[in-house]
Amino acid sequence: MTTLTNSGPIKPSLTILGLETSCDETAASVVRRGEDGRVEVLSSIVGTQFEQHAPFGGVVPEIAARAHVEAIDGVVAEAMRAAGIDFEALDGVAATAGPGLVGGVMVGLAFGKAVALARDLPLVAVNHLEGHAVSARLGADIPYPFLLLLVSGGHCQLLEVAGVGACTRLGTTIDDAAGEAFDKIAKSLGLPYPGGPALETLAASGDPTKFDLPRALLGRKDCDFSFSGLKTAAARLAEKVTGEQERADLAAAVQFAIARQLSERTDRAMKLYAASHPGQPLRFVVAGGVAANGAVKAALRRNCDDNGFSFDAPPLAYCTDNAAMIALAGAERLAAGVSDDLDAVARPRWPLDEAAALSNPSNSFGRKGAKA
Ligand code: KG4
Ligand code: ZN
Repeated sequence: MTTLTNSGPIKPSLTILGLETSCDETAASVVRRGEDGRVEVLSSIVGTQFEQHAPFGGVVPEIAARAHVEAIDGVVAEAMRAAGIDFEALDGVAATAGPGLVGGVMVGLAFGKAVALARDLPLVAVNHLEGHAVSARLGADIPYPFLLLLVSGGHCQLLEVAGVGACTRLGTTIDDAAGEAFDKIAKSLGLPYPGGPALETLAASGDPTKFDLPRALLGRKDCDFSFSGLKTAAARLAEKVTGEQERADLAAAVQFAIARQLSERTDRAMKLYAASHPGQPLRFVVAGGVAANGAVKAALRRNCDDNGFSFDAPPLAYCTDNAAMIALAGAERLAAGVSDDLDAVARPRWPLDEAAALSNPSNSFGRKGAKA
């Protein structure tokens, strides 16, 4: 349960330990948030499990949960050592409580509760998506509100972010996330996991005009995404391509099609956002693993130029899953007087904008992307 803390005045500066275990990264970080909101990352340690999952071509939940149990002690110790502080110096602990693979989420959340209990610290149970939503603020002073495209292996959403805990969803995927599409198509092209970066490398020597891939949801005027048709079409073509040049051409066409869809929906969202924020600064942020993709970023920069938005993306290390973004979300919540009880539960599904998810249930349950 989330509660307003009433343990006296909020400390001017907060030093928070963050924990992230919702997928295949065991991560811990110490972040200091100054009185003026300035953010300093004292350490950010990310232990990946790539090698354990690679033979299976994707993340295996049971292997992930076990690997988190084995890694978390060491990763936290390393984060504390790198930050040069001990547990006495902490003002709180923030742990991802969902959405994600629940076995892994439970490991990080239980560890966070143990630290909170042992050190008598407030606990913040952080929504992983809220972590991505604030991640660009780790690298630059980006004031609220802003329009956010959150695009990763588990999520593909357009959100208006008015502050921590104040997100309104403008659009989401009705099937796969964009990163999932990159990964699955990369797999059908015989590329190693994770597929996104490998597909981008192959696409660099390809010609995107050599293949014509389907455009999804053409008749709709909303900001929702769909990548399953593209995935199926690309998988069929991947069976037929011969030679390295054709593979590169198909990779380039896939990357172009994904970037085009992200850009088209972002354009719609920018127009809606601009209309509802007359006379206000127009800021756009792209976050999540797919924000590392050069073609995607270039297309989104053009959107910003066309619609008069500023463009920001987190530093590369904070695009993909990390614990610094969880620590910062926790610090911002604590600074606002919000913390959670020790009975906070791990949630496999946890929409960031619960109001939108409830009012539009056809977009909220079932086939909607792994973690959305
Ligand atoms: O944010 P993230 O680490 O994990 C989730 O919360 O899902 O994102 C990982 C996703 C993977 O699907 C990966 O293939 C994709 O981000 N990704 C990329 C690139 N780098 C990472 N996709 C396309 N191009 C890239 N350069
Ligand atoms: Zn993520």
